[in-house]
Amino acid sequence: MDVNSTLEIVTGLTAAQKRLPSKLFYDDNGTALFRKITEAPEYYLTTCEKEILRKNADFILDQMENRPFNLIELGAGDGSKASLLIKKAMTRPNFRSYYAYDISKKALEELEANLEKSFPDLEPHLVIADYTTSLEELDIPSQESNIFLFLGSSIGNFSPSQASLFLEKLSHKMKDGDFLLVGFDLKKAERILYKAYNDSQGLTAEFNLNLLLRLNREYGANFNIENFKHVEIYNPGLGAMESYLLSLKEQTVYFEDLNLEIHFQQDEMIHTELSYKFSVEDIENLVKDTSLKALSFLFDHKRYFVSVLFHRRSLH
Ligand code: AVI
Repeated sequence: MDVNSTLEIVTGLTAAQKRLPSKLFYDDNGTALFRKITEAPEYYLTTCEKEILRKNADFILDQMENRPFNLIELGAGDGSKASLLIKKAMTRPNFRSYYAYDISKKALEELEANLEKSFPDLEPHLVIADYTTSLEELDIPSQESNIFLFLGSSIGNFSPSQASLFLEKLSHKMKDGDFLLVGFDLKKAERILYKAYNDSQGLTAEFNLNLLLRLNREYGANFNIENFKHVEIYNPGLGAMESYLLSLKEQTVYFEDLNLEIHFQQDEMIHTELSYKFSVEDIENLVKDTSLKALSFLFDHKRYFVSVLFHRRSLH
């Protein structure tokens, strides 16, 4: 783990409200668990977004008219969503290539194998990168037009101010004629949200608890995950699902590699993730002070999810 992450862990676990950064979910184990979550029947987000992409792939690609273009995905995961666009793009003479940036090496290895199988003629560019901290440094192809993809409602894992800043930074990577497609999970009945983050197979619980196992593996910590419980609640004030790990008893955990002891009271919780849910108005507010302009809101038939196509406001 890098120095920044170590600092975030130490600061987070010694704060009054203990917290861990959600990007730490995605080690090899966590990446595999997240892929399983996306296939769980209760986790409707992926099914809904795929429906939108399938239905609107031609419309999205038509924005490029006859200009040569690339698809550029941030946080690609296994690429199963982008594949729906790649499949259509491959039939267009002006399509050049697919670039994917992801924090997880394991995800990119899987992605490479999937793409090789489905699109043997595609020569993808797969790059390991933490786009949350190094967006400015990403080497984005600049010869052709680009369609940027930020799917899966990953935008919801940022706070609203971080999300606006991220979108603004992303817009600086865009040229006139480029487009950005962002997936947003919409606000809906709380019981549907609750089930999506408390799936019956216990995958989300395992995904959350894997954070502690990762700390054991990478810092010599001695968390006993039997002593912690996955807790997920909807916070209507924020409009977000919140993940916590609850300490089932008073206990002390020792991080051998950091020579650090962390004490937990019974029922004390570590905050691990926010997954914001959006209304159309929330989305408009998010980009209000950025250089982006929403062109189309593409919904699934249940209106659970929306993919928004943005372009850069003209600078003149
Ligand atoms: C990656 N991200 C959009 C997921 C979400 O829904 O916030 C991560 C996740 N956490 C629990 N389940 C899935």
